[in-house]
Amino acid sequence: MAYSEKVIDHYENPRNVGKMDASDSHVGTGMVGAPACGDVMRLQIRVNDSGVIEDAKFKTYGCGSAIASSSLATEWMKGKTLEEAETIKNTTIAEELALPPVKIHCSVLAEDAIKAAIDDYRSKQQGA
Ligand code: FES
Ligand code: FES
Repeated sequence: MAYSEKVIDHYENPRNVGKMDASDSHVGTGMVGAPACGDVMRLQIRVNDSGVIEDAKFKTYGCGSAIASSSLATEWMKGKTLEEAETIKNTTIAEELALPPVKIHCSVLAEDAIKAAIDDYRSKQQGA
């Protein structure tokens, strides 16, 4: 199966690979796994006091489509509010990357990771 050019671009030049301090109260961390294939994705956001995502980082142990989906997700999240970032859909990611049906779950993983990171950040604010 051939990867689309956009997948290859993100796979070869992944944006925003890295790690943030998960204990920082401004950082939200989402860790999700895909039961279908065992791939794991960690996505982190740094949110400022206005609720804007200033930075996003990811680390994905998985296939090219999962890496490309998370790379794209971090690009799209930067500069967005939490509410805006929440509306990012796996279908939009899959469309942008032209993922074939068998790889749709890789983009679902990215959407799940976005939501998990936002949830983690919000629960930290409630606890603070
Ligand atoms: Fe290879 Fe998902 S890990 S296809
Ligand atoms: Fe499972 Fe891509 S094959 S995340």
